[in-house]
Amino acid sequence: MNNNIEGKVVVITGASSGLGEATARHLSGQGAVVVLGARRIERIRALADELNAAGNKALAVQTDVTDPDQVQALVDAAVEAFGRIDVMINNAGIMPHSPLDRGKVDDWNRTIDVNIKGVLYGIGAALPYMEQQKSGHIINVSSVAGHKVGLNNAVYSATKHAVRAISEGLRQEVKPYNLRTTVVSPGAVATELPDSITEADVSKGIHEFYAEYAIPADSFARAVAFAISQPEDVDINEILFRPTSQAL
Ligand SMILES: NC(=O)c1ccc[n+]([C@@H]2O[C@H](COP(=O)([O-])OP(=O)(O)OC[C@H]3O[C@@H](n4cnc5c(N)ncnc54)[C@H](OP(=O)(O)O)[C@@H]3O)[C@@H](O)[C@H]2O)c1
Repeated sequence: MNNNIEGKVVVITGASSGLGEATARHLSGQGAVVVLGARRIERIRALADELNAAGNKALAVQTDVTDPDQVQALVDAAVEAFGRIDVMINNAGIMPHSPLDRGKVDDWNRTIDVNIKGVLYGIGAALPYMEQQKSGHIINVSSVAGHKVGLNNAVYSATKHAVRAISEGLRQEVKPYNLRTTVVSPGAVATELPDSITEADVSKGIHEFYAEYAIPADSFARAVAFAISQPEDVDINEILFRPTSQAL
């Protein structure tokens, strides 16, 4: 296989469900070594066991991305086990939509901590290794909400706009080190993400929207594989995709 994926060591945060899990399976199937991070250790252990049993290489490391030490430990574990880190996928995220006047301060803080700080910690942990290697690829997950603001999603949308700003800043900074950066912005994809909404009425509306429009998580995994599989002198900086039926 000469797909520019085989043999690469890929660290994925939020690998216990949804887009992260689908990406781990897809890249593993293409020959990548996957290192899985999430809080639900039993899920990522089961996934790593399954991928290892299929003859691939996978490692699970319990990780809360709001703790920089745990994110560093995840990346260090990848390098210790497999000698390098080729791709860092900062995917973990939550989406507890609510109108601002409900004052859901805990939700605001958690969203900022996971969606912005978690991405920064992932970059901070991977970058020194990649700069030393003079090769590597950092993939951050934004959203359609990182391109446009919708009703009840001001905070989530702000975090996803921040991910795009951080990714563009990173892209410019890493030129001397030969690193690639990609930000992927999905539309509605069927995952557990709407379950993170804590307001019953908002949750109902989003679940109905996802039931009507969401496409399988493989769509995201293929977009990630596309970016990684390009020749090393090709840097796919942004991918924005939606379900064909999604207008917003
Ligand atoms: N699905 C969509 O329609 C869609 C659209 C645009 C963007 N996105 C983005 O895609 C990314 C993945 O979401 P998903 O759709 O796959 O949702 P999901 O199924 O709910 O998965 C979210 C993942 O993030 C992890 N996570 C949450 N908080 C964490 C924390 N503090 N530390 C470590 N991991 C944490 C979860 O693992 P644990 O709970 O086990 O820790 C889980 O693996 C998110 O950034 C989301 O904003 C999704």
